[in-house]
Amino acid sequence: MTKALDRALFHAKSWLERLDDHAVAADVSLETLRSRFAGPLPARGMALEDVIGSLAERAEGGLLGYAGGRFFAWVAGGSLQSALAADWLVSTWDQNAALYACGPAVAVIEEVAGEWIKELLDLPREASFAFTTGCQLAHLTGLAAARHAQLKKLGWDVEEQGLFDAPKIRVLASDQAHGSIERAVRVLGLGRGAVQRLATNDRGVISAATLERALTAVEGPVIVILNAADLNVGACDPFSQLIPIAHDAGAWVHVDGAFGLIARASRSRRPLLEGVELADSWATDAHKWLNVPFDCGIAIVRDAQAHKSAMTVNAAYIAGNQAARDQIDWNPEWSRRARGVPVYAMLQELGAEGVAAMVDRCCDHCLAIVEGIGALPGAEIVARPVLNQGLVRFSAGGTTREDDRYTDEVLELINATGEAFFSGTTWSGRRAMRVSVVNWRTSENDVRRAVAAAASALASCRR
Ligand SMILES: Cc1ncc(COP(=O)(O)O)c(C=O)c1O
Repeated sequence: MTKALDRALFHAKSWLERLDDHAVAADVSLETLRSRFAGPLPARGMALEDVIGSLAERAEGGLLGYAGGRFFAWVAGGSLQSALAADWLVSTWDQNAALYACGPAVAVIEEVAGEWIKELLDLPREASFAFTTGCQLAHLTGLAAARHAQLKKLGWDVEEQGLFDAPKIRVLASDQAHGSIERAVRVLGLGRGAVQRLATNDRGVISAATLERALTAVEGPVIVILNAADLNVGACDPFSQLIPIAHDAGAWVHVDGAFGLIARASRSRRPLLEGVELADSWATDAHKWLNVPFDCGIAIVRDAQAHKSAMTVNAAYIAGNQAARDQIDWNPEWSRRARGVPVYAMLQELGAEGVAAMVDRCCDHCLAIVEGIGALPGAEIVARPVLNQGLVRFSAGGTTREDDRYTDEVLELINATGEAFFSGTTWSGRRAMRVSVVNWRTSENDVRRAVAAAASALASCRR
């Protein structure tokens, strides 16, 4: 029964044990990976333990070190041990977390995890929530509720009547908004053309004057999207100022808090997010700063009725339970994995204080890396972290374009050391290397190794 599981446990443990010494970057080519995995569809099966053994062997060198403490690319958390182990149980239990009746225990675990998340982030306790696949679908869920509520106010039932001939909804979003916002808007049928970009200032945030001007110029129902940390510099819009302005104009406010919203858990970082609780919907990720395995976003909606109206389904065979929470009423999926279970486990492992400590640690480490690399000859700090994101750039004394290329070259050299892994971005028209610290494992030693990797890459460029 358990041969394949034993084999998987062996490979999983050896992967985790090697994280400190293993290269963070992948070091095999696309051709190699294809040649290892591709082949004719097997006519006959193979022994179970060989299936798992060969998967692990063939993936060797093609896996990035997300799980370790020196992975600073994009915004990607690792997995706390409790969350990873709970995730295995979720697969093993194989419950359909669509309805209480289809998986009673996991429905209750998710119900409690959602309540705990609202408490952790100090968001309205009456709000509803959904554990989605990621922040992308959390946006879709929050914005579907927004679409419902904004059109209902005008006497339009979007679930019944659709969008043809409906009043046109406008979406005001910062010019730093993540691409997942635009995609959610497109999928909801509002169209890319409905999005109006609001210019951000030199701190990467929308000013009150900019929002006021934009709201005065638009007609009809409006949704305003604010950032609880943009992914380049961790900029948080001034919620206490902007949300009342948006509400006075009758707008719904949705917050992209993919990672930044989690900083509400930290006493020292919470002031950056002051007023975010005034919004109407929030989208965040557990698979980023809460360090559960991938496949877990969270949508939270103040107006539970709008949320439910946008998502609920009726089918003759659904045995809805009045007393229990049926996830299908809140989620944009039917059959689904009980992805809230690892969140419950993670919150039990860390507690609210542990989450706060993890947030603070990541912010401190981010600052140390940015300052450490920024102090190296040929490096410059482009954005000092206010949270857990910062930017550095490299220069060989060339033109802006030459230094753009040089920045990308140095970044590749750092990644090639296998000691640390970063990704690049374009910020204010110039290339930069992003430093994103989101992993519970990142330690002071990891910080030293990352700075040393940058020093050796820069030294090799000078030779
Ligand atoms: C600010 C922001 N919003 C949304 C997303 C999308 O999140 P997900 O990949 O979980 O769908 C990301 C992903 O990096 C992000 O950084």
